[in-house]
Amino acid sequence: MKTQPLRPARVEWAADGTPRAPDFGDVYHGDAGAAAQARQVFLAGNGLPRRWADRDDFTIFETGFGLGHNFIATWQAWRDDPQRPRCLHYLAVDAHPPRLDDLRRAHRDRECAELAQALLAASPPLVPGLHRLDFADGALRLMLAFGDVRDWLPEWRFAADAFYLDGFAPALNPAMWDRAVLRTLGHRAAPGATAATWSVARAVRDGLGAAGFACERRAGLGGKREVLQARYQPRRPPPPATPRPGRVLVLGAGLAGASCAAALAELGCAVEVIDRQAAPAEGSSGNPAGLFHATVHASDNPHARLFRAAALRTAQFVRRCTAVPQGVDGLLRLEPQRDAAAMQSLIDAQGLPADFVQALPAAEAGARAGVPLRSPAWWYPAGGWVSPADLVRTLLARPGIAFRGGVAVQALRRDGAQWTCVDGEGRALAGAEHLVLACAEQAGPLLQALGWPALPLVARRGQVSVLPAGVLPFDLRLPLAGDGYALPLPDGRVLCGASNRDGDDGDDPRPREQDHRANLQRLQSLCGLTSELNVDGGRLQGRVGWRVQAPDRLPLVGPLPLREIAPGMRLDQARLLPREPGLHLAVGFGGRGLTLAPLLGEVLAARLLGTPLPLEQSLVDAVDPGRWLVRAARKAAGG
Ligand SMILES: Cc1cc2nc3c(=O)[nH]c(=O)nc-3n(C[C@H](O)[C@H](O)[C@H](O)COP(=O)(O)OP(=O)(O)OC[C@H]3O[C@@H](n4cnc5c(N)ncnc54)[C@H](O)[C@@H]3O)c2cc1C
Ligand SMILES: C[S@@+](CC[C@H](N)C(=O)[O-])C[C@H]1O[C@@H](n2cnc3c(N)ncnc32)[C@H](O)[C@@H]1O
Repeated sequence: MKTQPLRPARVEWAADGTPRAPDFGDVYHGDAGAAAQARQVFLAGNGLPRRWADRDDFTIFETGFGLGHNFIATWQAWRDDPQRPRCLHYLAVDAHPPRLDDLRRAHRDRECAELAQALLAASPPLVPGLHRLDFADGALRLMLAFGDVRDWLPEWRFAADAFYLDGFAPALNPAMWDRAVLRTLGHRAAPGATAATWSVARAVRDGLGAAGFACERRAGLGGKREVLQARYQPRRPPPPATPRPGRVLVLGAGLAGASCAAALAELGCAVEVIDRQAAPAEGSSGNPAGLFHATVHASDNPHARLFRAAALRTAQFVRRCTAVPQGVDGLLRLEPQRDAAAMQSLIDAQGLPADFVQALPAAEAGARAGVPLRSPAWWYPAGGWVSPADLVRTLLARPGIAFRGGVAVQALRRDGAQWTCVDGEGRALAGAEHLVLACAEQAGPLLQALGWPALPLVARRGQVSVLPAGVLPFDLRLPLAGDGYALPLPDGRVLCGASNRDGDDGDDPRPREQDHRANLQRLQSLCGLTSELNVDGGRLQGRVGWRVQAPDRLPLVGPLPLREIAPGMRLDQARLLPREPGLHLAVGFGGRGLTLAPLLGEVLAARLLGTPLPLEQSLVDAVDPGRWLVRAARKAAGG
């Protein structure tokens, strides 16, 4: 999906406080008031809260999130309902989300001030993409897609139980009620889905009818004589839903495994995580600290879109883990190739707001970091650092997850419907119908032994160094990234790194003096130091790990394609590939596990359990483990 710069809403406020959209010539809600309209047209119109009673999950999709009144009313109804579903997925799309000031004003003096306050506090920067916000400890998930509904609907996979159709009037905003949009709603409807809207326009009724909805006009409210309710009744009934797996086995207790386990457990799955090490985070995820941040790219390519979505998700995710050492107060990424004016032009061309990224000249960036920087820098206010080792341990201690260490898996075996992990003598160590391989480069040999082709992964040795407090001739205040990185730890020490060497130098995990020295040099040039640091490389503390990466620098996350592809199978898009039942991959996070693993763990869990995808399909395809098959097939076809 090609992203367009996001144009925030222009909201005008009438004397009586009614919000209007001058660009559409319409009001945000009818004269009955936003809350009454939400309750009567959208909740009651979809049979809510009755229809969600005692469900595990319930999914609502809204066209036009606007000022969030329908969301707040739904949240209130869900919160106050003793029979509420355990998990409510609220999905919404908006091409012109409001600025914070307008959102604040819309909810001033409202009855649910604390819910509105929480929404305001969690509101993402206004950048294109899908944003996931957690409320009520993750039981209420708001997924907000910023962009045009016509672009988003084909890209977003979910099955909604209820639709709130709340664009501006069809005559004033036909794009929102486009026939193709309404038709796609049919493809996104769960069995028994309903839809509601205040518009009874002919085009809306016809469009919904063509999508498989049976429409009924009902008595309206306020100045609206009638409103519309619809029930999904396709001519051909959908196939029965496959039962959701109740238990999943995860092999590997690093960032990848812990993120997958946490996402699965949050959706009610029982998860066992096993690792050959006695304790979690003993592999590459054991560093005391690491960075996460987004990137900006001139063409907003899939890497940039993925890293933007993922870094914003990590910031949200990490802030919820309050006991984990962290600093989500911004990060500077040095930019030696451009000057600040060229960087600013890039930001302006993409319409990126200052709470997402800023271009700072060297002097300003240096003043912020407390370091004499020589090049300008990108300032990412939601970037930061976190302790991966503590994050992994905290995630694995969550309810629903059992960790078992000292389990060295030598091979995998299929026993009927179950995948079994076995030791060198073929003795079963653990098993489940669904197995997630999150064991970094070891996933390759395990799969190859079963007949899969080699995974395109390379492992590169890396080492971080930790400098004692007071060694630097300045007080580094913020994480810095560039060629290498440096970040201040809470106890005054500075972590820097990281060496990056080919896998040809063995698997010795002991830190090396030469790599410490290389890290010191990197730190000096990062910080613009002209004289050598007075540190003995031989006495530094450090830690070694391996960055495991595919050639396209994207991880491999999702269900594994079939081992053998039969002739005639469609291979032109990753989403169409036939899959091996029960086998999933989460590997290849390279040097960006902290940025990528929280979001991609959620993607893996959503695909495995059939819940709404928290990422657009083209990016899900970009990290699909089967993308190599697609590329090979396209190449063979001359594409
Ligand atoms: C020096 C260095 C610095 C880095 N800095 C950053 C940074 O600042 N920011 C960032 O985002 N990322 C950083 N990274 C990258 C990040 O650490 C990785 O992306 C991440 O740790 C990968 O997590 P993982 O779970 O895939 O792998 P791992 O943490 O290695 O986990 C794999 C687990 O699988 C287990 N396992 C493997 N095979 C078997 C088997 N057969 N049986 C049982 N268990 C098995 C292993 O014991 C291990 O615990 C850095 C990496 C290095 C090396
Ligand atoms: C009536 S308002 C929605 C009010 C909202 N449901 C609430 O509860 O506050 C309509 C919304 O649709 C959005 N919109 C208009 N055209 C759109 C399009 N083509 N794609 C996505 N959103 C669109 C507008 O930006 C606006 O926020």
